[in-house]
Amino acid sequence: MGVCLPFETITFDHAQHALVILDQTKLPGEQVQRRLTAPEEVRDAIRVLAVRGAPAIGVAAAYGLYLVAYRLSGQEASDFWAGIHAAREMLAAARPTAVNLVWALDRVLGAAQQADPPAIAAASMLREADAIWEEDIRVCARIGEYGAALLSDGDGVLTHCNAGQLAATRLGTALAPIYTAHSQGKRLRVFADETRPLLQGARLTAFELMAAGVDTTLICDNMASQVMKNGWVQAVLVGADRVAANGDCCNKIGTSGVAVLANYYGIPFYVCAPTATIDLACASGADIPIEQRAAEEVTELWYETRMAPAGVQVYNPAFDCAEHGLVSGIVTEFGIARPPYAASLAEMMRIKEETNG
Ligand code: MRU
Repeated sequence: MGVCLPFETITFDHAQHALVILDQTKLPGEQVQRRLTAPEEVRDAIRVLAVRGAPAIGVAAAYGLYLVAYRLSGQEASDFWAGIHAAREMLAAARPTAVNLVWALDRVLGAAQQADPPAIAAASMLREADAIWEEDIRVCARIGEYGAALLSDGDGVLTHCNAGQLAATRLGTALAPIYTAHSQGKRLRVFADETRPLLQGARLTAFELMAAGVDTTLICDNMASQVMKNGWVQAVLVGADRVAANGDCCNKIGTSGVAVLANYYGIPFYVCAPTATIDLACASGADIPIEQRAAEEVTELWYETRMAPAGVQVYNPAFDCAEHGLVSGIVTEFGIARPPYAASLAEMMRIKEETNG
């Protein structure tokens, strides 16, 4: 029994050369699709979180680069490549933390590097973007299978932010084990942290879990401790934007607090992430760039009138890192990496190299 949610996060219209996204700024009230044909539109959609979540950002950027190639495919090779490299820089700068963004851009670029003339290079780039999209579906399904084995009938699961289908192509990462276990007949109760300040948990995770018929309870971020203390949580599953070589896992702000709480209460804390999210070039979480976002997200967004005094200083980091010592396992498409992570993550990457030839 497969899981199929009644919406697509991100698809590509090959006939019209348009990236089609479900605009996540409108959820859950409205399901609005947007068609993006210019790379600047793709960058802006990533910046405002109309498309978001590490894997989905990667897929969007991959097609964004192709859109430039399509536009410039009739030009001289030198103009074509100058435009492609400028667009690569522009898209890479859209958001700094999710490594999937540059990973996907460089894959698309790498696939076309030797191709000549521009029209052939553009076709290679589209093939690679399609491959990334298709691969993400398979990768999320594998994470779902490995992760579902960690869950038992009757378990309570807590998750933070949104690492579901809305953050990827299908199923997502942290929600994939929940969907897979649910389709296997395991009854789960999921607690979704609302995830201040952008409310991805309330707006997105609750929306998609309910669409899949999963028993969902929304809590404010500051209620997680109480829910754990009540004995209602048997596992925490979260996604990641970047995993460092030592196993530090960077994810939505608040994740490190959830990890600390889970450890305090003796609850396993799992990070679900494709190998595309592992960045062995970052030795630890301290090397991961953390996006800072606008103060208004904290002081006024979602409120009818501003709720904080004008001029107050605001600290609004979008991500934090769960230290590796707090992480029980990292569920990837090649299996579950366990401590010590320096060795197990390197092994995952070795398997990946071997598998991809
Ligand atoms: O700022 P967002 O909404 O893009 O943050 C998303 C997250 O933190 C997700 O947990 C992460 O990208 C993993 S998505 C599978």
